[in-house]
Amino acid sequence: MPADLSPIDKAKFLAAKRATDFVEDGMKLGLGTGSTAAWMVRCLAERIREEGLRVVGVPTSSRTAQLAVQLGVPITTLDEAKWLDLTIDGADEFDGNLNLIKGGGAALLQEKIVATASDQMIVIADAAKDVAHLGAFPLPIEVIPFGWQTTKALVEETLVSMDVLNRDVTLRMNGAAPLVTDESNYILDLHLKRIGNPRQLALVLNQIPGVVENGLFIDICDIVVIGHADGRVTVRDINSGEVEEERVEFVPTDNVFAELD
Ligand code: 5RP
Repeated sequence: MPADLSPIDKAKFLAAKRATDFVEDGMKLGLGTGSTAAWMVRCLAERIREEGLRVVGVPTSSRTAQLAVQLGVPITTLDEAKWLDLTIDGADEFDGNLNLIKGGGAALLQEKIVATASDQMIVIADAAKDVAHLGAFPLPIEVIPFGWQTTKALVEETLVSMDVLNRDVTLRMNGAAPLVTDESNYILDLHLKRIGNPRQLALVLNQIPGVVENGLFIDICDIVVIGHADGRVTVRDINSGEVEEERVEFVPTDNVFAELD
């Protein structure tokens, strides 16, 4: 492993590497978005090159699609694949029930559609994403640009009756302009500090006209693979209740860390 990898990147890489062990020949895969998911795409590409693994991936963002194509991971659309065996994706936070906050990379809409259309979802994360209560990370929601300020006001009004510690709502920017998602929408970030009832909040937010989807993933994730900077990897399965801890020793090839054009 390159010496200049930061402890967080090392943890993300280890989680991604371990998660690709769950991938079997012939699988249709959901490919997540973000820096951890990018490691997963690289590790998957290595298995395709080294073992001749045959898989096809449905990317959850234009960024992931571009990376997969660059690395030689075959991709298709969800409409073509229809249903997936496994989705592997990162998360911004996960709690003890493996409920998640996602959308830090503004890809929550495609990520939720793809994960929901999968037999199994595995989240890959560094240990800092493991929280007792969701909400320290701002909760992203994807909103239609039309009337977004009215939607924001309705969200703020809705939050008054929700079990949250803070209620600031901000429009996510990309420089001087609003950030625009792959689906041509905007992102509102809800600075809640602590979410008392994530399930209720997820349901209520999606009732607001103008809200396309929220970044709370409830009962979607099956397994979390947590990487630690010291080389340990924890695999937590919410369905079996099993928690395994192991040390991942491997010699990554140069290919995994190669710079892309
Ligand atoms: C993108 C996401 C990402 O999975 C999440 O933000 C984690 O990203 P990273 O792996 O870079 O920490 O939800 O919308």
